[in-house]
Amino acid sequence: MVLHYCLIGVLMPLSLLIAQATATTDGAPLARPNCPDNCGNLTIPYPFGVRENCYLNSSFFINCTRDESREPQIVPYWGNSGIIVSNISLEEAELQILQFVAKDCYNQLGNQTYNNNPWFSVPPFTISHAKNKFIAVGCDTIAIFQGYRAFPNDQESYLAGCMSLCDSLDSIEYEDSYSGIGCCQTNIPSGLQNLTVTLSSTYNHTKIVGDLTNCSYAFLVEETQFKFSNSSFQQLESITELPAVLNWAIGDDPDPCNTAQKRKDFACKANSKCVNLVGRSAGYICQCLQGYHGNPYLPDGCEG
Ligand SMILES: *[C@@H]1O[C@H](CO)[C@@H](O)[C@H](O)[C@H]1NC(C)=O
Ligand SMILES: *[C@@H]1O[C@H](CO)[C@@H](O)[C@H](O)[C@H]1NC(C)=O
Ligand SMILES: *[C@@H]1O[C@H](CO)[C@@H](O)[C@H](O)[C@H]1NC(C)=O
Ligand SMILES: *[C@@H]1O[C@H](CO)[C@@H](O)[C@H](O)[C@H]1NC(C)=O
Ligand SMILES: *[C@@H]1O[C@H](CO)[C@@H](O)[C@H](O)[C@H]1NC(C)=O
Ligand SMILES: *[C@@H]1O[C@H](CO)[C@@H](O)[C@H](O)[C@H]1NC(C)=O
Ligand SMILES: *[C@@H]1O[C@H](CO)[C@@H](O)[C@H](O)[C@H]1NC(C)=O
Ligand SMILES: *[C@@H]1O[C@H](CO)[C@@H](O)[C@H](O)[C@H]1NC(C)=O
Ligand SMILES: *[C@@H]1O[C@H](CO)[C@@H](O)[C@H](O)[C@H]1NC(C)=O
Repeated sequence: MVLHYCLIGVLMPLSLLIAQATATTDGAPLARPNCPDNCGNLTIPYPFGVRENCYLNSSFFINCTRDESREPQIVPYWGNSGIIVSNISLEEAELQILQFVAKDCYNQLGNQTYNNNPWFSVPPFTISHAKNKFIAVGCDTIAIFQGYRAFPNDQESYLAGCMSLCDSLDSIEYEDSYSGIGCCQTNIPSGLQNLTVTLSSTYNHTKIVGDLTNCSYAFLVEETQFKFSNSSFQQLESITELPAVLNWAIGDDPDPCNTAQKRKDFACKANSKCVNLVGRSAGYICQCLQGYHGNPYLPDGCEG
């Protein structure tokens, strides 16, 4: 089954959908004073924010805007990137976004009828290698991604991918999902700040029996949000985006907590601690001390 985002909503003025800073169920505020803490259904905790003086810096700006072409029409875009945010996690310093699916289609003569090369770019954030997989679905499918790693001391370009073949839908064994028969997957390296997906074929789909499979698909996806099955081909025909996970952090030092604690703009407030992100990119995150909970980035955000 392909799990994807259920985008339902009702038409309401923006002002009604952006409530003033409310609170968590237990009373601790998530946003700065006088700042909205949501955009439609999405909860927006500081350091993210929807207005000036509500976010830490422009990298944490959520442009909550109306987009008539979408449902619901109130859409949280990440800054001016055009990327839609579907979840924000403070604890794990993650941002779930919606990501385009790459598609490569052919007719029965072997002429290419559709091909896109989606890409996205997320600096200063990085693409989570722990939560995402690169997956391709197809019967004559060469799926490649290219990405750029931007660790301060290790900047490198990566090119990788996987190949999936089959001569008919009947030959696919769905239990052994990522065998390369109908579907394949691969991990991505850590610390990537952008990703381009390219699809191509070996035989222009001319060796495939049946017409259900005239398209190939490839995408980066949060691993738990996609499971290959006998309905994947059909479902992917109408899915254009799937969720993927980004990592965010404060600061860009390679040894951030040590340095940041001495800075005036240190982000971790009362009753919280600074945590270095081992094996991620640069930067640190804040966590409430044991026995406290709330938003460690707000003064008195961690409540006992
Ligand atoms: C999202 O909003 C819709 C209506 O706008 C509501 O029915 C749904 O319960 C909301 N979902 C969450 C998770 O808040
Ligand atoms: C938010 O997005 C809308 C629509 O793309 C754009 O018109 C507006 O200028 C953006 N706002 C800011 C503050 O960037
Ligand atoms: C958002 O993320 C949190 C924690 O990471 C999770 O508990 C929650 O279910 C997610 N919400 C949605 C709508 O996926
Ligand atoms: C489609 O393929 C046929 C045979 O390969 C070729 O003759 C024709 O020009 C192609 N049409 C287009 C629109 O590319
Ligand atoms: C990815 O980042 C690298 C380094 O900044 C850049 O050269 C490349 O053009 C970027 N690619 C995309 C698709 O943004
Ligand atoms: C696939 O299509 C391309 C462009 O139409 C053509 O150049 C190539 O020879 C075809 N390959 C096969 C194996 O049919
Ligand atoms: C796939 O093939 C079917 C039947 O040949 C055709 O109706 C459909 O438009 C094709 N899809 C794409 C995206 O080319
Ligand atoms: C897909 O698999 C399920 C069980 O795994 C089966 O019940 C169903 O009939 C299959 N559907 C098709 C179209 O093969
Ligand atoms: C915003 O903060 C992040 C994390 O501290 C940093 O990496 C980024 O460079 C800052 N962006 C701007 C535009 O200052």
